[in-house]
Amino acid sequence: MKNFTEKYKPKNLSEINFPDSESEEIVNHWISSKSSDPLLLLGPPATGKTSIADIAGAAMYADFYETDQLNLCGTDTINSIVSQIDKHLTTMSLNFGVKKLVVINEFYELKDKQSKFRTIIEKELYKKNCHFIFTANAVEKDIDSAVVSRCIVVKMSRPSPCVIATQLHEIACENEADYISKQDLENLASENHCDYRKTLQALERSLHNYS
Ligand SMILES: Nc1ncnc2c1ncn2[C@@H]1O[C@H](COP(=O)(O)OP(=O)(O)O)[C@@H](O)[C@H]1O
Ligand SMILES: [Mg+2]
Repeated sequence: MKNFTEKYKPKNLSEINFPDSESEEIVNHWISSKSSDPLLLLGPPATGKTSIADIAGAAMYADFYETDQLNLCGTDTINSIVSQIDKHLTTMSLNFGVKKLVVINEFYELKDKQSKFRTIIEKELYKKNCHFIFTANAVEKDIDSAVVSRCIVVKMSRPSPCVIATQLHEIACENEADYISKQDLENLASENHCDYRKTLQALERSLHNYS
């Protein structure tokens, strides 16, 4: 059985809480225009950055195969990242001739190597064959300014307890737990510092304990 974080993983952008409508429009446009500019998603943990990257992957291809999306991590070395991208570009894809999506999570962890990405982004080979999404639990000033200036930047933030409670109330009702009040869910969100993932896990535990 899937746990709640798996089961209630957002499947399209309308299920993501954006800090404002402008950010949602920017991401929507980035996906629908299949933009060549990298998308840089910044924000604390559990604000939907990885979910957006996965939704983008599924939305950008008429027939999406998970092998079209390469997920990498900034804790890796630059050499390893570049060689994995190169290998990915040479693997056969059923979406022949379509650019591949390369997601680099924890981009901030590249530290002083972030600037190397400026040349990677600008290399013709990658411009022609890749869409890039970078995600980071960081603020804009922690990311190399030359990289930032080449990216479409979207800043994610934690939703308010009220927004989380509204969403979790639907989940509670779906799980025959409509006895849990919205106020209880708001309190649960506040106790978990408005970390959506942690609040969802806490709700799952409390339903499990109750049943
Ligand atoms: N902005 C959001 N809107 C809706 N659900 C969210 C949001 N942020 C996080 N979640 C929930 O938390 C889980 C983890 O989010 P994730 O995308 O991995 O966050 P991040 O990559 O920012 O750490 C998701 O599966 C989803 O259930
Ligand atoms: Mg993430």
